[in-house]
Amino acid sequence: ESTLGAAAAQSGRYFGVAIAANRLSDSTYATIAGREFNSVTAENEMKIDATEPQRGQFNFTAADRVYNWAVQNGKQVRGHTLAWHSQQPGWMQSLSGSALRQAMIDHINGVMAHYKGKIAQWDVVNEAFADGSSGARRDSNLQRTGNDWIEVAFRAARAADPSAKLCYNDYNVENWTWAKTQAMYNMVRDFKQRGVPIDCVGFQSHFNSGSPYNSNFRTTLQNFAALGVDVAVTELDIQGASSTTYANVVNDCLAVSRCLGVTVWGVRDSDSWRSGDTPLLFNNDGSKKPAYTAVLNAL
Ligand code: XIL
Repeated sequence: ESTLGAAAAQSGRYFGVAIAANRLSDSTYATIAGREFNSVTAENEMKIDATEPQRGQFNFTAADRVYNWAVQNGKQVRGHTLAWHSQQPGWMQSLSGSALRQAMIDHINGVMAHYKGKIAQWDVVNEAFADGSSGARRDSNLQRTGNDWIEVAFRAARAADPSAKLCYNDYNVENWTWAKTQAMYNMVRDFKQRGVPIDCVGFQSHFNSGSPYNSNFRTTLQNFAALGVDVAVTELDIQGASSTTYANVVNDCLAVSRCLGVTVWGVRDSDSWRSGDTPLLFNNDGSKKPAYTAVLNAL
């Protein structure tokens, strides 16, 4: 195959990309994105601050720009993200307790209703665990509404759109030996045992010198899949874009039958939220980097 998406499709998977609405008018960007990928995640446009800037007033202008571009170009869409401590609008940041809990539920209902039946996977909850060795939940306004906020979010999401796969998504959970990984594993196991509706786990996979790729990532994916959930690599970027590491990540996904696909977090290095790390598959001029070829050959 000659594109990443077509190559991934050979094994029933996708190869996706994060898209920024305001870059779609850049023809180099749109050409590469349109050609290479068969799944799209909105980099920022479906987040809480973008979709509900004032309480109860939803705005899908930018989100729909990404969504419509994806569908018109034959791509599936990952929804990102419904409940998160970050990129909250000011009104939500200032809420707490039962008012915040209700606002979270209302937000899930409002966004999922707009996209009902149209989203392959939703990141229902993002980044709820703390970094470091504690294995604890991250302190946040949502966490302070009660430890059950995550399962409440998943139950609301299932009711709002039964056709979407519902994912929990986080970073620094790729290495099996990390406390954060174990904490996430215990939560998913508990959810499956108690019937909380969760279908998938997203591993962001922002690899850098502080949190490098480790070959036990495959074990992590396998262990989560064994709990009865699908897994996905949702925001892949690798500091320095090592071809070997990119190929390893792809091979880890391919080794796990419940791994749905891989999404890279941007098109060219210049599009990256960490552009100084040159972490992506395309150079700033749109040419393919060695890591691109490594990924294509691995798929
Ligand atoms: C990042 C975007 O890439 C940036 O443009 C934005 O300024 C901040 O958020 N984890 C996530 C993503 O789940 O939503 C983040 O995206 C990167 C880390």
